[in-house]
Amino acid sequence: MTDTQDVMRLLAAAEGSETTLRATVDDLGSARVATLLTGEVCFRARLDELGPRMSTPVRVILEFQCTDQSFPTMITVEGGGVRVGADQPAHLPVTVVSQDLYEAVRTVYGPRELAATVSQAVRWPEMAVMAAAGRPSEAVPTAFYPIVQRIIRSLSRSEHADLAELAAECGTDKWSALHRYPEHYNRHFGPLRERRLNVLEIGVGGFDETGLGAASLRMWKHYFPRAVLYGLDIADKSSLDEARIVTVRGDQSDRAALTALADQAGPFDIVIDDGSHVSADVLASFEFLFGQLNPNGLYVIEDLQTSYWKPMFSGDDYDLTDPKHTMGFIKTLLDGLHHQEFLHVDARAEQPTDHWIRGVHIYHNLCFIEKGPNVEESPFANLMRRWENTDQSSS
Ligand SMILES: C[S@@+](CC[C@H](N)C(=O)[O-])C[C@H]1O[C@@H](n2cnc3c(N)ncnc32)[C@H](O)[C@@H]1O
Repeated sequence: MTDTQDVMRLLAAAEGSETTLRATVDDLGSARVATLLTGEVCFRARLDELGPRMSTPVRVILEFQCTDQSFPTMITVEGGGVRVGADQPAHLPVTVVSQDLYEAVRTVYGPRELAATVSQAVRWPEMAVMAAAGRPSEAVPTAFYPIVQRIIRSLSRSEHADLAELAAECGTDKWSALHRYPEHYNRHFGPLRERRLNVLEIGVGGFDETGLGAASLRMWKHYFPRAVLYGLDIADKSSLDEARIVTVRGDQSDRAALTALADQAGPFDIVIDDGSHVSADVLASFEFLFGQLNPNGLYVIEDLQTSYWKPMFSGDDYDLTDPKHTMGFIKTLLDGLHHQEFLHVDARAEQPTDHWIRGVHIYHNLCFIEKGPNVEESPFANLMRRWENTDQSSS
C-alpha cells in the first residue's frame, strides 16, 4: 500500500465511529500510523519555510502514545531544511510534544469540528538548558518558539493557511505578477475546505524537467487538509509523489489516458485545468472529465486569455464565438444554462451538459463551471410558446 492509500483509509476512518477509527489504526499498525501522522504534521506546519533563515538547528520530538507504547520521532529544523527521524546528539534543547495516537488521527485527519487536544502535552527543556548562563538568546535559537508553536498548531488543527500566501510560498504563479486567482478560488473552494475531497489538477508544472513542479499540488494539499490531490502531466512527475499527492503521466487530450486516470482516481470533486492551455486540449479534457465530476463538483479552467492568442496557443481574437476556442465554447454554456427558455426546438441543438451545468462563473482569465441539475421549469417560456402558436394559427 502507498502512503496515499493508507492516508485515504485514515481520512475516512477519522470521520467515523471510535470503533472504526481504532480498528483502522490497529489494522495499519500503530507505528505506521505514527509515521504518517508525523509526516502530515510536519508538512502542515510548513517548517521548511523557517529552515533557511536559521543558523542554529532546532529539535522537537513528536511523540504519539497508544495503550502502553509510544512512538517518538525527532524533527530537526536547520539551515539545510527539515529532517524527520534523524537521531542527533542531544547537545541542543529538545522539546517533546505528545498526544494520544487515536486522538491525533481524529484531529489531524478528521473534520475540524471533531478535533480534540485533551491528551496533548508539551515538555519543554530544562530551564537550565534554555537559559544557559543567564543568556537565553544564546541558548534558544530565534526560530525555536515559532517551530514548536507551528507543530502544536498543526497537531491541533488551528493552523492558518491563506491561499495567496500559500501560493507565493509554494511557488505557483496562481498569485504572482501574472495572476490573482486566490481570491476567486477562495470564494468557490472556501466552503469545501474541510471536506474529504478528490481533486485533479491538469498540469503539475516544471514542463520537461521531471524533478520540477507540484507547486500548486502542494498549495492545495495545505489548503484542503483532507483532500487527495491528483496531478496529470504529459511529463513523468512521479518523483514528486508524496502522501496525498499522486501524479499520473498522460496527455490531457488523450481519451484513453483520461479514461485510465478516471478508473484509477475518479470520480472527482474538483478538476482544475492548468495544462497546455491550447483550446483543443482544454475542450477534449472537459468533454470527458466533466462527466467524471461528482454532482456539486467544480470544473475550473485557468488562463482563458490563451483562447485569444494565436502564437503558441492557436487562439483567435477576431472570431469570438467559435466554439472550437475555449472562450467561444464557454459562451455556448451560457446558452445551455437557459436551455428551458428557448421557444423554438430548432433554435439551438441540445448539449449533453445542458441539464448538468447550473452555474458558470467567469473572472479575469479564470472560469468556474458548477456541476448540478439544471432542470428548473420555465412556466413563462411555456406561456410564450402557447401565445406564439395561437398568434400563428390566428394569422
Ligand atoms: C503552467 S504548468 C502547470 C503549473 C502548475 N499547475 C502550478 O500552478 O504550479 C503546465 C504544465 O502542463 C503540462 N502540459 C503541457 N501540455 C500538456 C498536455 N497536453 N497534457 C498534460 N499536461 C500538459 C506541462 O508539462 C506543464 O508541466
